[in-house]
Amino acid sequence: MSNKKRILTGIRPTGALHLGHYAGALETWLEFQDSYECFFLIADYQALGDNFDDIDKITDSVKQVTIDWLSVGLDPSKSNFVIQSYVPEHAELTMLLSFVTPLGMLERNPTLKGELDQLSIEKRTVGFFNYPMSQVADILLPRADLVPVGEDQAPHIEMTREVVRKFNRIFEPIFKEPDTKIGRVPRLKGIDGNNKMSKSKGNVIELRFSEEQVNKAVMSMYTDPKRLKATDPGTVEGNPLFQYHDAFNPDKEKVDDFKKRYREGKVGDVEVKKDLAESLNNFLSPIREKREYYENNPKEVEDALMSGTSKAREIASETMKMVRAAMKIDSYTSKW
Ligand code: TRP
Repeated sequence: MSNKKRILTGIRPTGALHLGHYAGALETWLEFQDSYECFFLIADYQALGDNFDDIDKITDSVKQVTIDWLSVGLDPSKSNFVIQSYVPEHAELTMLLSFVTPLGMLERNPTLKGELDQLSIEKRTVGFFNYPMSQVADILLPRADLVPVGEDQAPHIEMTREVVRKFNRIFEPIFKEPDTKIGRVPRLKGIDGNNKMSKSKGNVIELRFSEEQVNKAVMSMYTDPKRLKATDPGTVEGNPLFQYHDAFNPDKEKVDDFKKRYREGKVGDVEVKKDLAESLNNFLSPIREKREYYENNPKEVEDALMSGTSKAREIASETMKMVRAAMKIDSYTSKW
């Protein structure tokens, strides 16, 4: 048994991962791999929320996400990769916790509210409404100490703490309140300048993009719309071009020099973009090589998922024993 503290975090399998996932999440996960016992969850129940009519997409994404994880260096010999629905205790704990959770906790969750607003009536399902509850169960099932996530997920972690306090007060104090850790770049913009990145908007740079795709994406990147000529002074703040430089260009001096010249109208967009494309390709090149290896060795990808999932099931079954005992729903007949 490891006496390291535990991390649980996860991703919805709804497409291949992109640079936003790297800067907001994966980079932090990599740092924690050695110092924590990590559970990285592929939240397929959660993906069903708005993709119940497209299981093929989820099936493919489970594979793509696993390959992305392996390619960036998450290591199944150190960390546990888990498929949510293969640990059915997630569903059971979600249901049990829902009895101590007032509707208001979900109704005032700002992240959920925003997402519901974007959904059609048909997709505004009970299941979707309840996904933050299932996320609470994801975190509590392995009894995680720390949940590293992007900024948008913070309300769900706060809700986890509230549910823990309620559960512990009503039944037995078996859960601890987990901490959150927000990634280094809380919210990378889309390449079109949009604050939300999504594959459907086509405004992301995927980790699996080829060199040509990266070049094309960077060249099309939205910059300062008020700057018409390279001699016009430009704005750096909030400009995706510089946000990406800050996140992925290791040469900070060069980035500072670009910023200075951009502000003074002494450098063209194309020069700054070319340099960014080069940095991104340098960053992605080793990831691409590993991806190619795993594409050709699907059995290793499957094994990575299955070994972590079976470890998660062991712990989940321990936790559910504790939960049923705390709620005293494990022993009705013994009291007759
Ligand atoms: N909601 C997260 C996302 O959209 C994924 C997720 C599912 C998660 N369960 C989790 C994150 C538990 C942290 C903890 O990316």
